[in-house]
Amino acid sequence: MKILLTGASGMVGRNILAHKDASDHEWLTPSSRELDLLNHSSVLRYMREHAPELVIHAAGVVGGIQANMANPVKFLVDNTLMGIHVLESAHASGVPNLLNLASSCMYPKDAENPLKESQVLTGALEPTNEGYALAKITASRLCEYISRTDAGRHYRTLIPCNLYGKYDKFDPKHSHMIPAVIRKLHEAARAEKASVDIWGDGTARREFMYAEDLADFIFYALPRLASMPQTLNVGLGQDYSINEYYQVIAQIVGFEGRFEHDLTKPVGMKRKLIDTTLLQEFGWNSKTSLTEGVRQTYSYFLKEAVND
Ligand SMILES: NC(=O)c1ccc[n+]([C@@H]2O[C@H](COP(=O)([O-])OP(=O)(O)OC[C@H]3O[C@@H](n4cnc5c(N)ncnc54)[C@H](OP(=O)(O)O)[C@@H]3O)[C@@H](O)[C@H]2O)c1
Repeated sequence: MKILLTGASGMVGRNILAHKDASDHEWLTPSSRELDLLNHSSVLRYMREHAPELVIHAAGVVGGIQANMANPVKFLVDNTLMGIHVLESAHASGVPNLLNLASSCMYPKDAENPLKESQVLTGALEPTNEGYALAKITASRLCEYISRTDAGRHYRTLIPCNLYGKYDKFDPKHSHMIPAVIRKLHEAARAEKASVDIWGDGTARREFMYAEDLADFIFYALPRLASMPQTLNVGLGQDYSINEYYQVIAQIVGFEGRFEHDLTKPVGMKRKLIDTTLLQEFGWNSKTSLTEGVRQTYSYFLKEAVND
């Protein structure tokens, strides 16, 4: 298939292109400089000129709580516009298939765990990333409207849990939890530190999937978009406590000191686990264990990112 992949230089995009089945397809991978998704007419022209058979929309303005809180306008406006421009242009230029990447931030902040796809839009959003979540909800609803009103279009949304893996950002200013802990414990081990702080008591639970597994899901879904649920959670169906993540990472990077809990620091939500019932019915399960995923990510960090 001829596939347009937006966000090809990002963590998700690079894991897709590195997948063993990627060479079965022809890829269009414009950077933001070659195709700014904020420019609607450029996106429409690009789609008409290149006529992809499928679009994977993996571009976005992505960041943690601090970045979201500092730039709520950008997170809402850029992500909403990119979603509308990509979906609407694909629709207008006759692209039959599209896979849109959303995020579990779309779920209401007080929704009961595990989070089911039907719980989107059933309550107030987490205020710290509301703009980002609204943009993701808009794109996923637009996929649904297009698919419902045009039988020739299979536009689906997947909601991944948190991700980590190769091509992640390890720079402390931009990193998510797993790459941040890898760097912190790697540096503590090298400095032979006696202890490392964990914010809070470490009992909050999080679900992180190895990004290569998400790429694997995408290649599983590509020939099955017509039968894929309209909106589908993609995760492990299992979570770990923050303390467990620290223990696994410490073992892999060789940190032998103590953990001290700083109870004055914020810990965020107690739990965020997505429901994988529909995913299992669709016939896919993630394969990489936490230990194996962290081992691979650490090896990438040592080769490519230790000096960032
Ligand atoms: N990372 C996670 O834990 C996670 C979890 C759940 C869902 N997701 C979703 O997965 C998707 C990809 O995430 P990621 O972690 O791969 O993000 P990332 O590493 O930050 O990459 C973002 C990508 O978006 C592109 N982009 C940003 N603004 C653009 C614009 N105006 N025009 C064209 N391209 C633009 C960037 O292209 P350039 O480099 O060329 O600027 C880059 O390739 C996002 O939708 C995100 O919400 C991620």
